[in-house]
Amino acid sequence: SDSSPTICGMPLKYVSLVTLAVQNAALSIVMHYSRVSIPPSQAYSPATAVLLNELLKGSISFVVALLRVLSASDAAGRSMVGLWVAFRRVCREIFSADCWKLSIPAVLYVVQNSLQFVAISNLPVATFQVTYQMKILTTAAFSVALLRRKLTSTKWLALSFLAIGVGIVQIQSTSGHAPQRHNIPVGSAHESAPLHIHIMSPLKGFGAVTAACFTSGLAGVYFEMVLKGSKADLWVRNVQLSLFSLIPAILPLIWQSPYPHSPAYILSGLLRNFGWWAWATVAIQVFGGLVTAIVIKYSDNILKGFATSLSIVLSFLASVALFGFRITPSFVIGSTTVLIATWMYNQPPGKELVAITSVMPV
Ligand code: C5P
Repeated sequence: SDSSPTICGMPLKYVSLVTLAVQNAALSIVMHYSRVSIPPSQAYSPATAVLLNELLKGSISFVVALLRVLSASDAAGRSMVGLWVAFRRVCREIFSADCWKLSIPAVLYVVQNSLQFVAISNLPVATFQVTYQMKILTTAAFSVALLRRKLTSTKWLALSFLAIGVGIVQIQSTSGHAPQRHNIPVGSAHESAPLHIHIMSPLKGFGAVTAACFTSGLAGVYFEMVLKGSKADLWVRNVQLSLFSLIPAILPLIWQSPYPHSPAYILSGLLRNFGWWAWATVAIQVFGGLVTAIVIKYSDNILKGFATSLSIVLSFLASVALFGFRITPSFVIGSTTVLIATWMYNQPPGKELVAITSVMPV
């Protein structure tokens, strides 16, 4: 719309969608590389990455919420006293009576973000991306069940195509009986390094990605229910989401740490092997969480689906170039089916009908 904010003259709505597509592709590539390019003995802890993601995202969202309150106040309100008043106001909003509602999507997102690590360590990037499209299926199912949403026959048809497409990609990826070996890219820094081959287990990968699709669908629908059911600021909701995520994110770290579980022990083990690739993965994840929030605010979930399907093409092309991913006919057929299904699902229902009724006097 005319009132929506712009960046360099372009509507924020479209800038955020394109950014999300690039972010999605970049995350799957960097996350995959950060896991498979390192011998298991030097691997970083995904639990640490999940915790850092929530800590950083929550802190940034808190600063944005604070800046929004400050920018709405007058010059006097921007003094040190004004800052304290704004800080207390944001805190009051965060710890409001209904903040507990965010605990359910928070736990689900932590589980999803952890499963993503298992999936991406055991599947080729492009296969992961295509299979992850099944979350459209679970989102639809939970929307029908929880939000009592009705789906048109075109949407149901699109969902069937999606399942078929994912099935085709799965068949070609799991057809080999032996676990797949990761290709060390030719000309990479690892070429001259001692060869360590990361063994991938596609079955484990598919199990993780299927479970992640369920948590994605349920968490997304639940978050939508909470957001649309109240007037609370999106950034405040994001802080609440991150705060509730801290509990399930910290538990596995305590569990994994050597006994006795002293804070010093936990902290020393936390950042072990946490190199540049691990930090890059966290940074892209944090950025993605924030862009997702902007997409939800200035755009909608339908267009978000488009952005994700665009990211399949991007990560597919990148993994051909970077990881020597082989293009097989069944991959092309399967991913084309998924892309067509995504496009079909995103067609506005009864567009012509709306256009006709909008010009008719009521
Ligand atoms: O794939 P899907 O759209 O379900 O992914 C959602 C991702 O965005 C999750 O990693 C979740 O942690 C993040 N997210 C977020 N803030 C929100 C909603 C989702 O960081 N408000």
